[in-house]
Amino acid sequence: MPLICFASPKGGVGKTTLSANVADLLRREGRSVVALDLDPQNSLRLHFGMPVAEQEGFMAHLSRRPDWRGYLRQAASGTLVLPHGGISLRGALDNATALEREPDLLTAPLRDMLADPRIVVVADMPPGPSQALSLLMPMASLLVTVLRSEAISAAMLAEIEAGRFLGTGTMKALFAGRLQFVLNGVDLRDRLSRMTAEAVARHLGSRLLGAISQDEAVGTALAAQRLLSEASPASPAARDLRQLAMAIEASLPAPVAHAASSDRVEQPTAAWAAPQWGTR
Ligand SMILES: Nc1ncnc2c1ncn2[C@@H]1O[C@H](COP(=O)(O)OP(=O)(O)O)[C@@H](O)[C@H]1O
Ligand SMILES: [Mg+2]
Repeated sequence: MPLICFASPKGGVGKTTLSANVADLLRREGRSVVALDLDPQNSLRLHFGMPVAEQEGFMAHLSRRPDWRGYLRQAASGTLVLPHGGISLRGALDNATALEREPDLLTAPLRDMLADPRIVVVADMPPGPSQALSLLMPMASLLVTVLRSEAISAAMLAEIEAGRFLGTGTMKALFAGRLQFVLNGVDLRDRLSRMTAEAVARHLGSRLLGAISQDEAVGTALAAQRLLSEASPASPAARDLRQLAMAIEASLPAPVAHAASSDRVEQPTAAWAAPQWGTR
């Protein structure tokens, strides 16, 4: 039922990394999670071990109103992944035009998915303002804005507060309470990173959901196409991600039917079940 969107004013800040790992950690908490990739970079799937050459995804066929279930894949870990799909610039422009005319190309299938009370959808959004973000925001229970622990983030706070980075000045009011933040790449040994983290934390107060350490284990896990909890569970970033996932879990409604074991995947409705693409 709940939709959690990971967004950011700029790219390369860790949205996809956080989306993938939080999706998997919520699954470990007994949730049925669909990790939904709305970024044309099509990279969310890589964190779950999906073959690089497998380019299929629902957004590549959006204007033909595809059945999203046909593109759903189940990671070996159990998380369901809806890959964006590889798409050309032409395809992206066509999608933008189609969505301008018919926003329900995106919102109707998503609403259908969210109608299943057992499913939590974690969406990896494109960087900056986007059509997808404007369409999904009204449906989201939580919008997690990812900022990197660098000076530019502190400088951007006013823009962020005004909601302008989301593409409209009205979003702040609309989103009061549902707009939360995560600071990624915190390096406490680095003076500037530490000062930025402190300034941002002071400014955001309780709206700062969590902070993630700068940690080379993150890149190593991605290179191996694995989630951090599998590749490097004792690393500082894995510990921070668990705390973040717990903070997000605490904000969600209780699961409809709780899975007894963290290894057992609660099956969503048959309609959303999908075959695994392999085991590691
Ligand atoms: N906490 C971190 N520590 C070290 N590297 C990180 C961290 N978070 C993200 N990265 C790296 O930064 C790069 C961008 O991350 P990514 O999740 O793809 O960002 P986005 O989706 O916002 O573009 C990736 O190479 C990723 O491995
Ligand atoms: Mg990304």
